[in-house]
Amino acid sequence: MNAPGAARKDLSQAPDWVRHAGLRQWVSEVARLAKPERIEWCDGSQAEYDRLCGELVAGGTFIKLDQARRPNSFLARSHPSDVARMEDRTFICSQKKELAGPTNNWIDPGEMRATLQRLFDGCMRGRTMYVMPFSMGPIGSHIAQIGVEISDSAYVAVNMRIMTRMGRAVGDWLGEDGDFVPCVHSVGAPLAAGQQDVPWPSNEKEKWIVHFPETREIWSYGSGYGGNALLGKKCLALRIASVMARDAGWLAEHMLILGVESPAGQKSYVAAAFPSACGKTNFAMLIPPAAYQGWKVTTIGEDIAWIKPGQDGRFYAINPEAGFFGVAPGTSQATNPNAMKTLASNVIFTNVALTPESDVWWEGMTETAPARLTDWQGRHWTPACGRLAAHPNARFTVAASQCPSMDVKWEDSGGVPISAFVFGGRRSNTVPLVVEAPTWEDGVYMAATLGSETTAAITGKVGVVRRDPMAMLAFCGYHIGDYFAHWLKMGAAVKHAPRVFRVNWFRKDAQGRFIWPGFGENMRILEWIVNRCHGLAQGVQTQIGLMPRYEDLNWRGLERFTREQFQEIVQMDNAAWKDEVAAHDKLLGKLGARLPAELEQRRAQLHQRLAA
Ligand code: OXD
Ligand code: MN
Repeated sequence: MNAPGAARKDLSQAPDWVRHAGLRQWVSEVARLAKPERIEWCDGSQAEYDRLCGELVAGGTFIKLDQARRPNSFLARSHPSDVARMEDRTFICSQKKELAGPTNNWIDPGEMRATLQRLFDGCMRGRTMYVMPFSMGPIGSHIAQIGVEISDSAYVAVNMRIMTRMGRAVGDWLGEDGDFVPCVHSVGAPLAAGQQDVPWPSNEKEKWIVHFPETREIWSYGSGYGGNALLGKKCLALRIASVMARDAGWLAEHMLILGVESPAGQKSYVAAAFPSACGKTNFAMLIPPAAYQGWKVTTIGEDIAWIKPGQDGRFYAINPEAGFFGVAPGTSQATNPNAMKTLASNVIFTNVALTPESDVWWEGMTETAPARLTDWQGRHWTPACGRLAAHPNARFTVAASQCPSMDVKWEDSGGVPISAFVFGGRRSNTVPLVVEAPTWEDGVYMAATLGSETTAAITGKVGVVRRDPMAMLAFCGYHIGDYFAHWLKMGAAVKHAPRVFRVNWFRKDAQGRFIWPGFGENMRILEWIVNRCHGLAQGVQTQIGLMPRYEDLNWRGLERFTREQFQEIVQMDNAAWKDEVAAHDKLLGKLGARLPAELEQRRAQLHQRLAA
């Protein structure tokens, strides 16, 4: 913990491995403004991680879990008001409002800088300022980018070590004049001399997550949680990277990447976009059902993909992250055995429940809940108490290298070639199990109009359908109409554009039960998708694209899923589709002159087909 009142170190002091004068200068400037008690440059070593975790335990932020049950693992409990990303407090401060577009919050950059000046003046008093050089992507990869996060939270420092390649090796790579994205974070809770710290410092009154896309800067204030504070993830790898990608001809996407290998040894890679908490982690770590002897699914990433055109005319993708910051509730031996194995040790859990044996539990982990727990807010909990034991957006932070399904190429600096893009949302009706877009442009329309029922990964109302184009609504750092145009352009930038598919695992029957068994059974759809990419599977054209017939899918081992159920899950309800298209109209109508003609044309065609 910080020792308020201790002598402040020389603010310009940086370790030898930091040879970048611009970086040193910037750190001194931030320190002069934020006035921390001391500065610590993170080298990313295990010893440093262990020491910081020890300090977090001593200060009450971390609870050390039972060493035999969950070695080297910790539980943190956040402040109850700081539990998720805050989209209404997230700003894209581009030079002009129209560059941020209708889906982003915007504030004039001059005004925002004045606000940040006020907020950050003295905001780190009494705290340590951690400086973390980090790489998004394998160090040295031509697709990777460097960031440097400054934060006054040791919780952030230890999470960043798991989620990114962080520390000395990045300082070495940065050299004397490498480019980096400056990321400044404060929990916004300065400590007066002698003031006792709290386990989860944050600012209950003000939270700001601010991006300056032209100058590629990130400033975050007031929250210590996930995407609000681990600035390499949503802020850099999506919002700022989407702008870099637009300018330099690549794609920064909210996508998992997985590999599928057939018994014949044919390997394909698929990138799939789903809105937050729609099972991306489960899909990325899928274990094929028993009937799929000889098939193998491997994981490259489970949240973000950076994708560049390769010299052979295909897209190549890397996972810019080094760890998983996954949603814990719902993760179990039944839904995701690979994740459960990954979580066996060296994990930071946030807002899950604590068992009397000092292990963790969350809703869905086991069929029967333990008789007694301590809930995510530290209160006594029993199954009858009527409260959730874990927060619905409770998370785990863990190194990807611990996951048994990681692909041999997951750290390949050149990336993996992508055969298909898949877009999925959580829709209890209307949208069929799977459909393939006839062309790239149709695929862009399909992705641009993606809708999903909201979940607890963000604050706000849960369970309402919202349009979430490419699952990037909260993550596109510029005008969404220009982003659609960029997607259209990127299709033409490669000779072999991936095929585009739309999936929906979440359709429900009249009794409100999920029709599709999901999880490992999604392999059947994945097989159809990769077979389509290799010209090995059939389907029929419908008003919204090409769909498999019952006989086009492999049902071995899932005979209990009847032809009738299949019909129910692919059924097109014309009235529901008219409402669906009205929702497309509403979204696309906001884009004005920035709606690409190709999408306007597809919108009109869809209206015509449904009218017929
Ligand atoms: C995430 C999210 O944390 O999408 O990945 O909210
Ligand atoms: Mn995500």
